[in-house]
Amino acid sequence: MIPPVADPAMLEGAARSPLLPATDPRRAAAPAGGAGQRRPSSSTVLPAVVSAVLLLVLAVVTILASQHVDNGQRVVMPPAGGDVAAAAGRVVEVAATRGVAEGVSEKSTAPLLGGAGALRDYSWTNAMLAWQRTAFHFQPPKNWMNDPNGPLYHKGWYHLFYQWNPHSAVWGNITWGHAVSRDLVHWLHLPLAMVPDHWYDANGVWSGSATRLPDGRIVMLYTGSTADSVQVQNLAEPADPSDPLLREWVKSDANPVLVPPPGIGLKDFRDPTTAWRVPNDTAWRVAIGSKDRSHAGLALVYRTEDFVRYDPDPALMHVVPGTGMWECVDFYPVATGSGGAGENSGLETSAPPGPGVKHVVKASLDDDKHDYYAIGTYDAAADTWTPDDTVNDVGIGLRYDYGKFYASKTFYDPVLRRRVLWGWVGETDSERADILKGWASLQIGSIPRTVLLDTKTGSNLLQWPVVEVENLRMSGKSFGGVALGHGSVVPLDVGKATQLDIEAEFEVDAAAVEAVTEAEVGFNCSTSAGAAGRGMLGPFGLLVLADEDRSEQTAVYFYLVKGTDGSLKTFFCQDELRGSKANDLVKRVYGSVVPVLNGENLSVRILVDHSIVESFAQGGRTCITSRVYPTRAIYDSARVFLFNNATNVHVTAKSVKIWQLNSAYIRPYSASSL
Ligand SMILES: *[C@@H]1O[C@H](CO)[C@@H](O)[C@H](O)[C@H]1NC(C)=O
Ligand SMILES: *[C@@H]1O[C@H](CO)[C@@H](O)[C@H](O)[C@H]1NC(C)=O
Ligand SMILES: *[C@@H]1O[C@H](CO)[C@@H](O)[C@H](O)[C@H]1NC(C)=O
Ligand SMILES: *[C@@H]1O[C@H](CO)[C@@H](O)[C@H](O)[C@H]1NC(C)=O
Ligand SMILES: *[C@@H]1O[C@H](CO)[C@@H](O)[C@H](O)[C@H]1NC(C)=O
Repeated sequence: MIPPVADPAMLEGAARSPLLPATDPRRAAAPAGGAGQRRPSSSTVLPAVVSAVLLLVLAVVTILASQHVDNGQRVVMPPAGGDVAAAAGRVVEVAATRGVAEGVSEKSTAPLLGGAGALRDYSWTNAMLAWQRTAFHFQPPKNWMNDPNGPLYHKGWYHLFYQWNPHSAVWGNITWGHAVSRDLVHWLHLPLAMVPDHWYDANGVWSGSATRLPDGRIVMLYTGSTADSVQVQNLAEPADPSDPLLREWVKSDANPVLVPPPGIGLKDFRDPTTAWRVPNDTAWRVAIGSKDRSHAGLALVYRTEDFVRYDPDPALMHVVPGTGMWECVDFYPVATGSGGAGENSGLETSAPPGPGVKHVVKASLDDDKHDYYAIGTYDAAADTWTPDDTVNDVGIGLRYDYGKFYASKTFYDPVLRRRVLWGWVGETDSERADILKGWASLQIGSIPRTVLLDTKTGSNLLQWPVVEVENLRMSGKSFGGVALGHGSVVPLDVGKATQLDIEAEFEVDAAAVEAVTEAEVGFNCSTSAGAAGRGMLGPFGLLVLADEDRSEQTAVYFYLVKGTDGSLKTFFCQDELRGSKANDLVKRVYGSVVPVLNGENLSVRILVDHSIVESFAQGGRTCITSRVYPTRAIYDSARVFLFNNATNVHVTAKSVKIWQLNSAYIRPYSASSL
């Protein structure tokens, strides 16, 4: 069945869809103390948890969605000049590498696929490519997207800016795309916010962050790549701050406001953070990532009163040898729950350091394209930061996500008093396939994640999909007490399985675990054989985007390992090795250790949205995102299974809840849609 590739005119369809789903984020507030991690009801058929107003909105969205995207008939913006099938006949130019020569990190999968020669030309069909487009993750109508930029809340709207190429589905010509949302789930595309139109950003309007000043002013600092590819920092402000949509941006006459300081490479100075202030000082602080001559990654902190003039002598906030260029540094406070601020809310970026407050430093490592964070203490007088645990310092310890996830950024949402994380999820297919399908990359937004310090362990963050995503839940099914013997695979009858929200809790047979005496040291998700690597105490979990005979499957699972001293370690992994029959893809087993405290079940939440699988173990202590491109497990052929491939332990799936998720409303803005 080849579904129709939609008429691009449908994307101009806002005029036909005058009703904006005006979900009020306050209505979707997390229950008291819930931190957005609401437990679902346990009835057998789970009703969508929505208010009457939201039901109405849902009905409208359902009707709209059914016109466009239901039953596998998905909107695909074809590449310029024809539909996907027509594009298949064109000669597609693919660069072996992209971005590095111009002064940013690698933006092509070609090196991972073995260079241009590795385009083993899988015969993607129109139907397969069309199916890959996501339904509730944010995407522009077409073309290449990368980093999220300048997220902020203003006069009733959440704003997302993003790195976008208006010309093509590969990186280049970077401008700022712009979209707004009432609820972080449904989005309206606005005109471009900024384009390369000055010498100081001629080579690209690169990443940046927004800061709201107490007088309501909004300042946007961003990196420009000059005509000579020098990285400088620039200032822009809304032309009309009273416009809730902030449609027009004006670049400062003072640009560039910061150029690379002595000792810093001309192409190693980018991605300013949201600014913050400290008690008893009027100066704002801004951090910028870089590296030194010995390849140590670092963050510099500049002080400024007016965002135009900066103290020329930046503080060295933190440096970690061997980690290379730090891109997209993020710096923010989190509550420890033992001080003034409540443990279940986020903190405003300028929340004062002190008892009950820790600070997180995050860096996106150019060298390996992963986002690393560490928790520590900020010294406001010196603008330096010290990690709690030097073994887990920035760039060598914990990651936000062990899969495909990069260049993330948080912002403080004053409405629900939470810190919200956005991230760029790139492609792991070939550029050729991206050009054929006409787009590349998506944001975890919608569905962004709330970020909190894990007050139970004190040593990691918790990430969880924003509570508003639960408004997309439609019918749900619940399975309880499913016994999983050694080597078993159990299909779950959930109907369509390409847009799902899954919550599962597992329990292992403690006596069997006790009986295992052999130690398995050195297990590592990445180097293991994935779901096919049978150990005594794992793998067990779920298979998603699997077809009936499991010729394709993506496994999300736990794997327990006994140490020589008898101690138990829990790994959480995601295996893409059999995710697709296609060969022009990067396929990996991702994962890491996940902390499990005494008495806790093993729990996982999984969001499946066509070509993306996002998984959260133990309430979000360890997260993994995969891009998966099945060729058979698509449309009505996608299934979900439980499995246990351990050789020595029985596992019980105590509870599995699976909801169908509706499509988000992501359309161009038109005045009539307000
Ligand atoms: C950038 O834009 C120019 C036209 O302005 C176009 O010729 C070129 O192919 C574009 N490059 C990419 C990588 O999109
Ligand atoms: C700020 O100033 C007040 C009054 O001088 C003082 O009590 C307080 O300790 C100062 N706070 C910090 C963080 O320096
Ligand atoms: C697992 O193996 C990968 C690839 O060799 C390596 O980069 C990573 O550090 C290893 N992880 C652990 C926890 O040893
Ligand atoms: C379990 O392991 C066997 C042997 O490696 C493999 O053939 C099978 O596909 C695995 N099961 C799952 C669900 O991956
Ligand atoms: C373990 O899972 C079961 C089934 O969902 C649940 O009833 C129980 O409360 C969970 N236990 C813990 C400690 O969360």
